[in-house]
Amino acid sequence: METVLSGIRSTGNLHLGNYFGALKNFVKMQHEERCFFFIADYHSLTTHPDPKMLHVNVKNVLAEYLAAGLDPEVATIYVQSDVPEVAELSLLLSMHAYVGELERTTSFKDKIRKQPNNVNIGLLSYPVLMAADILQHRATRVPVGKDQEQHLELTRRFARRFNQLYQVDFFPECQPYTFGGELIKIPGLDGTGKMGKSEGNGIFLTDSDAAIRKKVMKAVTDSGPTAPDSPMPEVIANLFTILKAVSTPDTVAHYTELWNRCEIRYGDLKKQLAEDIIGVIAPIRERIQDIINDEAYLSRVLKQGAEKARESSGATLAEVRRIMGIKPF
Ligand code: TRP
Repeated sequence: METVLSGIRSTGNLHLGNYFGALKNFVKMQHEERCFFFIADYHSLTTHPDPKMLHVNVKNVLAEYLAAGLDPEVATIYVQSDVPEVAELSLLLSMHAYVGELERTTSFKDKIRKQPNNVNIGLLSYPVLMAADILQHRATRVPVGKDQEQHLELTRRFARRFNQLYQVDFFPECQPYTFGGELIKIPGLDGTGKMGKSEGNGIFLTDSDAAIRKKVMKAVTDSGPTAPDSPMPEVIANLFTILKAVSTPDTVAHYTELWNRCEIRYGDLKKQLAEDIIGVIAPIRERIQDIINDEAYLSRVLKQGAEKARESSGATLAEVRRIMGIKPF
């Protein structure tokens, strides 16, 4: 069995792309592997968020995770800052992380361009903290998107370096978790690449039925097929990709057929698409509402998650301290 760790920064609500690209697979994965899911609130601090917003965002992501089906009795679900061991492990790892290699990280270079007046140490050591997140549980698999591959590479490098410097075989080299190619990439509704957080492009797990209908009806289309079996332009193929994720195979076959015969009416396609998206989102949205209002439940979940996570990271930290020569007399 693999130990899988997934982290998410607490910045804003989750959308349909997050659901089909990750969450839905996590729900299945939690029964197959030893899973840790955590919210990276320390990492969020590198961009100086408003304290009230930070707190609300952590709560939202947690409620969304639980509503989507992550089970705190099965997996370990926690908030990064509830596990102080990670901060100490990050400090210890930082002794063998070189300034040069951190300065060359793509994410760091991006960030100093975006926030030239706040080039803080947290930004520079972001990959060290991320490595500590992963190594504290000695995770072997980490589901990440393309933008996080370099951070994973650095984590492997830090693990190798630690093992070499101290002549131990302690940290495993984590690999990306790929869900056996089952990952569905949900495109945006504005015809520009994948679904993101930007307005008009994303459908959120918290959107009302009316908001979903409105967004889908406004999705970008073209003037329609001109000859039978003509190639499908990207904006239309995008709608079909979402349809495949949310609708039955019969529905997909029906609209594909209409397209091939040049008889498709985009208004009908969009109405169907909106209703089937609602079919997926509405029950999740209702559970989010219930969970968000149940502070006692949320706090119970996080207490349990922190206990399980601290047990795992405490064991690792004790060993790392010992290996590095920090021992009681
Ligand atoms: N850096 C990740 C992101 O921006 C979030 C993250 C922090 C993470 N620590 C992690 C992801 C550990 C995986 C494992 O998406």
